[in-house]
Amino acid sequence: MKKSRVPVMCANWKMYKNIEEALAFIDVVAPVAEQSDCEALIAVPFTAIRSCADRAQGTRIIIGAQNMNDATQGAFTGEISASMLKEAGATFVIVGHSERRRLFGETNSFIHKKVQRALDVGLRPILCIGESYEERENEATQTVLCTQLREGLVDVPKTAASQLMVAYEPNWAVGTGLPANPETVHQAIDDCRAFLGELWSSADAEKVTFLYGGSVDVQNAATFLQTPNIDGLLIGSVSLDPDSFAKIISLCQNVAAH
Ligand code: PGA
Repeated sequence: MKKSRVPVMCANWKMYKNIEEALAFIDVVAPVAEQSDCEALIAVPFTAIRSCADRAQGTRIIIGAQNMNDATQGAFTGEISASMLKEAGATFVIVGHSERRRLFGETNSFIHKKVQRALDVGLRPILCIGESYEERENEATQTVLCTQLREGLVDVPKTAASQLMVAYEPNWAVGTGLPANPETVHQAIDDCRAFLGELWSSADAEKVTFLYGGSVDVQNAATFLQTPNIDGLLIGSVSLDPDSFAKIISLCQNVAAH
């Protein structure tokens, strides 16, 4: 089955890799990305953005960041702005990752301001949403996801739909080795797209790229990619290994050709 949106494979390195390791990774993955039909994104630590963006020039690898502040500038010790990321060479930014929500207390309204600021400066946001284990057990998944979308995207114009990526990452699947069932993900994304259709229009909702993330590995990636609603993957721990990430990227050729 050929999908209408370009597949996106995004590595999320979290707080791993120094510059030397990051550049060596790009050298391994770039030739594979060249042969693939996907966009190969890497969300690198802030310190590696400039070097990685330079090394990725002329390749199909796209460099981005894992977080940002919503303010343009100011007395916010330790924070970084969207325009600083852009200047360093980032073209996208992850916002609202479950680790940011859980460990750093990020709220939907703060995440919403980041989405808007990212779009303002021309960074593609990857808005992460996902329910906790308890919320799933209580059959609150759909309500939680729609609330995160509504509050995260309030006032975001529908013209931004093609720039927006949404990563569905159930909290209980991130970093646990327990991936969600592809059928469950399919259903959740269906519900999210329907919600965006009501918010904007179904044609605009169709422009949004939906990723799945949570314990993706080399073995299960193909099944996720063959699941109709999943446009791509957000990959944490397995993406630290260049050979594994390269293998996952190379699956995209097959998916696009079917
Ligand atoms: P994981 O992380 O692949 O290690 O589960 C996913 C993520 O944090 O985006």
